[in-house]
Amino acid sequence: MFAIALDGPAGAGKSTIAKMAATRLGMHYVDTGAMYRTLAYDMLRHHVDIHQENAVACALEQIQMKIIYDENVQRMFLGEEEVTDQIRTPEVGEATSTIAVYRAVRDKLLTVQRDLAQKYEVIMDGRDIGTTILPDAPLKVFLTADAAERGKRRFLELEEKEPGMHTLEETIRAIKERDERDMNREIAPLRQAADAVVLDTTYMTAQQAADALVQMAQEARSR
Ligand code: DC
Repeated sequence: MFAIALDGPAGAGKSTIAKMAATRLGMHYVDTGAMYRTLAYDMLRHHVDIHQENAVACALEQIQMKIIYDENVQRMFLGEEEVTDQIRTPEVGEATSTIAVYRAVRDKLLTVQRDLAQKYEVIMDGRDIGTTILPDAPLKVFLTADAAERGKRRFLELEEKEPGMHTLEETIRAIKERDERDMNREIAPLRQAADAVVLDTTYMTAQQAADALVQMAQEARSR
């Protein structure tokens, strides 16, 4: 099955660009970060000590995560409750990066993600898709941008949701910290696959980056 593995650091524009490209290519957009976020959100709500691997592994057994694709929008549920929007806060992002280092967490989501790629043609966005989840994907793209630019984009998003609650400096610092943690964990770290194409979006609009991705996908499909 044709698949695109799209990896890269926080704020590189993966989800915006993948959504635009998926619609044009008639593919399924899969946001793996949202799955990690949903697990972390549930643990925060249940006051699980996320710094204890055992506590996290235990909590995982209880979580009823569900994913629904609705007109190519990925909606996340815990039991019957939709949490698609609630998982988007900086606090949940931080906790997510903490629990994403644990083996039990990664193993649980590896199965979910590979199953989706067997069922549908996917553009799957994450950190380890090209290296670990779909190592045979016919197209792998590593999407990146300068940390300052990524911080600025995140900051503008946050300003829209919660005006005056964050500073640009704090947002850039948090993004650099998250990069560090995602790149330096032992299991499935954020890393460019050897056969991935790098797309640096620092000086690109989302539209330009989506155009580039669509073109690469069309070429890869016809190979
Ligand atoms: O892409 P995002 O900001 O929603 O990701 C949130 C966190 O989840 C990020 O800090 C790293 C982790 N993550 C991961 O470890 N592996 C993935 N495939 C996707 C996300």
